[in-house]
Amino acid sequence: MIFLVVLAVAASYLIGSIPAAAWVARTRGVDIRTVGSGNSGATNVLRSLGKGPALAVAVFDILKGALAVWLGRALGLDPMGAALCGVAAVIGHNFSPFLRFRGGKGVATSFGTIAAIDPVVGAGAFVVGLGCMWLTRFVSAGSILGAVTAGVLAISLNRPLWLMAVMVGLAALLIWQHRDNVGRLRAGTERRLGEKT
Ligand code: G3P
Repeated sequence: MIFLVVLAVAASYLIGSIPAAAWVARTRGVDIRTVGSGNSGATNVLRSLGKGPALAVAVFDILKGALAVWLGRALGLDPMGAALCGVAAVIGHNFSPFLRFRGGKGVATSFGTIAAIDPVVGAGAFVVGLGCMWLTRFVSAGSILGAVTAGVLAISLNRPLWLMAVMVGLAALLIWQHRDNVGRLRAGTERRLGEKT
């Protein structure tokens, strides 16, 4: 069984590490790390390439997280093992071997993972996160608030301890990945949705 868990987690890490944003941008002759925020994610693709490519990247990155959880389940892992696969996909996205162990901030892949593990928590995080993005026009602020909501919901809905730990852990990692955004939000220099540079 432990061999199966290791295999599923390794495969999930590889799935997560596929750098959709960087590769889509490259097909358009753009190095995503040198434009906009420099982040390899859908928001930065939106800035530099527009809505179509950004939507494709967002859907692909969400599916990476969900697929990893489904893979774990399909291989017969218990819910905690399947959740671990989702976490591995997020880590693969953030620290991708295809990008010299750099990557994105894990927003879409975390969302796919969270929604596949616990759709109720995922839906709550989605509504709060999207609402914040819509009100403030800051994707980073919405992403952080959505992730915090997932942790708070898992605790308030009295989910099993391991699930609370996964949600809080994913939120902590996501906040850490947004440390530059937090600095810009505090300095008043964060880009709003629709701002190109
Ligand atoms: O997709 C990550 C988002 O929360 C922030 O992206 O490019 O504004 O740093 P970005």
